[in-house]
Amino acid sequence: MGNKKNYIREEIVKNRRGFIQTTLAGTAGLVFSRTSGISAATAQSVDSRVEILLDEPIGTISHNLYGHFTEHLGGTIYDGVWVGAKSKIPNFDGIRKELVEQMRKIKAPVVRYPGGCFADSYDWRDGIGPSDQRPRRTNFWLGAENDKSPASHKYDPNEFGTDEFVHFCRLIGAEPYLAANVRSLPASEFYRWVEYCNSPTGSTTLAEERAKAGSAQPYNVRYWGVGNESWGCGGNFTPQEYAVEFRRYSAWLPRYGQSLSLIASGPNSDDWSWTRGFFEEIVRKGSSQLGGIYGWALHHYAWNLSRGRTNEWEKGKGDAIQFDPVDWYEILREGERVEGLILGHWQVMSEFDREHRVKLVVDEWGPWYRPGSEATPGDILEQTPTLRDAVFSGMTLDIFNRHASKLYMANCAQLINCLNSLYLAHEDRFVVTPVGHVFGMYAGHQGGESRRTIFSAPSVQYDRDGKPATFWGLQGSASLSGKDLLVTVVNPHTTQVREAEITIRGGSASSAMATTLSHSDIHARNTFDNREAVIPQKKESVVRNGVVVYTFPAASVTALSIHLT
Ligand code: AHR
Repeated sequence: MGNKKNYIREEIVKNRRGFIQTTLAGTAGLVFSRTSGISAATAQSVDSRVEILLDEPIGTISHNLYGHFTEHLGGTIYDGVWVGAKSKIPNFDGIRKELVEQMRKIKAPVVRYPGGCFADSYDWRDGIGPSDQRPRRTNFWLGAENDKSPASHKYDPNEFGTDEFVHFCRLIGAEPYLAANVRSLPASEFYRWVEYCNSPTGSTTLAEERAKAGSAQPYNVRYWGVGNESWGCGGNFTPQEYAVEFRRYSAWLPRYGQSLSLIASGPNSDDWSWTRGFFEEIVRKGSSQLGGIYGWALHHYAWNLSRGRTNEWEKGKGDAIQFDPVDWYEILREGERVEGLILGHWQVMSEFDREHRVKLVVDEWGPWYRPGSEATPGDILEQTPTLRDAVFSGMTLDIFNRHASKLYMANCAQLINCLNSLYLAHEDRFVVTPVGHVFGMYAGHQGGESRRTIFSAPSVQYDRDGKPATFWGLQGSASLSGKDLLVTVVNPHTTQVREAEITIRGGSASSAMATTLSHSDIHARNTFDNREAVIPQKKESVVRNGVVVYTFPAASVTALSIHLT
């Protein structure tokens, strides 16, 4: 990163308000003409506007857009989620207590497990029965582990399996989402796993095994992934081959009165041919086949910080904690692509599924940096999230809210000790990352009614390899729950605040409370030794004539809770 010669050229705005008036007059005149109800005194003191259109509903924000992902990978399960029942670390039957408590606070709705790539090498039977009799198996990720990685990461002891995972979900109040193995187990094992989880008390041998593990009652697992990344680690299929496998694995599964929501392994980022090939093949057996697919799982990681120099996976990545402002904007730019991916895949799906019976699921998302920032050496794929990742996550969740009608679920990769983690933990140490705080601030969107929101703000201008580049000035989303409006806003500018008026079209604010996550240092992060470097702060927000006025700090994520009259 030290070689990078191009640093941000901050806007030199001598007469900032004059500049903004000019910009907005040119680009957002329509918006301004619609804000005529605002007092002249207020209108002149801001540089940005947010308009929430109460009469323009987008759809209900599924709780599951705020979902999580845990894989038997590095320190995610062993050390992260699972510490063992005999551990001195406070735990609920072996599950890290502090993690459970934090996840209750953010109202975690759903957790995906056991992978990721691990899922297609996993035999679910290894993870059930008496713990001391479970086999030790080679983990899918063995080849990536290093000298510092503990044995449990390389050779899975299977202490944590289906029962422990479901127990974890129950403790936090989340739904389990299990990913079935399509690459290396037959369809009958998928059938049996459903039977183990969902067959009624005493009905089958597997129900009795489940009862011995402590749950006579069925787990009623609803969400099932049919493979993972079947275009790659999940089998290297062509989309047509995978569609055939999907039909076969999903053709007959036991229900026991529990509807099953099957999620098919969707594309990697902009692989339109994967989406087209799959749906083309699926409907060759008739469009009724679409009824068997609940979600189409898109994966998008933001990783390439090379600014067009390379597409090589290793070379293109940047550092998680050492970066310049151009890298800051660059990772946001890469992450923001998810919006175009949602629209693009939705469009391709509509070629075969005009009624959109199948919705999108983004079951892996987040930034992916090169190794080096691990809080615990030896935890592969572990990154230390900074304020940049909080802004990235806020931006992404806002995108999901804005497309609430197209999305059923999204799962941040991954919950703890991994990529875009909400938490880092090692032995008795635990910390909530800035990403974790964003999930707390956005939790109120779950189940809310997404409303169209227009942002007008001066854009960020910077130098990208000698060429002028721009990035939007403010973005966000809004949701309505009764008389309460939650507006979340990201200011990506690394140095400039945005002074904004937030106008509610079709309504009026009676009070507003703001919570903002920011820091004077864009690299700020929480560590085991400094757990509260980046924490949400309550801020004053003024309401004048039903309009909210707020100054969004530079490099910030804000949640405005507005009560309507
Ligand atoms: O999240 C890490 C890995 O990224 C997952 O195992 C895989 O599905 C993806 O490629």
